[in-house]
Amino acid sequence: VKDKPLKGMKVVVTAGPTQEDLDPVRFMTNHSSGKMGYAVARAARNLGADVTLVTGPVSLRKPVFMDVVEVRTAIQMFEAVEALKDEYDILVKSAAVSDYRVERVSDHKMKKQGNQLTIDFVTNPDILAHMGQLKKANQVVCGFAMETQDLVENATKKLVNKGADLIVANQLNEDAAGFKKDTNVVTILTGEGITKLDVMSKEALGYEIMNRLLQILVKKRGI
Ligand code: PMT
Repeated sequence: VKDKPLKGMKVVVTAGPTQEDLDPVRFMTNHSSGKMGYAVARAARNLGADVTLVTGPVSLRKPVFMDVVEVRTAIQMFEAVEALKDEYDILVKSAAVSDYRVERVSDHKMKKQGNQLTIDFVTNPDILAHMGQLKKANQVVCGFAMETQDLVENATKKLVNKGADLIVANQLNEDAAGFKKDTNVVTILTGEGITKLDVMSKEALGYEIMNRLLQILVKKRGI
């Protein structure tokens, strides 16, 4: 059990981008490759957890020995994660979820017309905030914060407003951090304090995050 400290635990991880359709041909998305979330999911599995990975469309190899739920839109990701609300011990929301979706997806390919195009967007549900609200006293929720400025300030707001136990904050404009890279530079925020970590591989960071979340779980449950 010593090297499998998450044995018997259920861990849900989200990863990758979401895609929001404009019409049957086009969609809006972001640059997330899924590398960060997949690394977290593999670390959780290797530490002994029973893992469900809810993933947006990525071109990474599907990890083995875990459940993989493939979704495309933020609404689909919301439904997949919410369905697991009573089952998880630890939830890690590394996915880059679109804050908005198109109000009315066109049934047919939009025709080119004029020199300007105006599209109405509506907000997507905030999955992390929703799960933070539903969270039971013995469950641990971890979010990410992707910022381009005021990292700690913005991430602190996300920690509080989204009901997370831990936020992994990354600043996109740091060289070794962010989308698609194999490394990341993060600051970890919890109710107990703020820790800036050195640059590390996303693989190693996956273990670092899971170990910290396990400590929080142990403390909450007094085990
Ligand atoms: O996939 P990679 O290429 O490896 O890149 C990694 C990463 C940069 C995508 C990752 O490290 C990261 O920062 N993921 C979170 C991206 C994000 O959406 O950050 P945010 O600050 O916009 O959102 C804050 C948190 O709320 C996140 O946990 C996000 O999953 C969650 N959220 C946001 C909007 C929404 N509608 N629902 C959510 O659950």
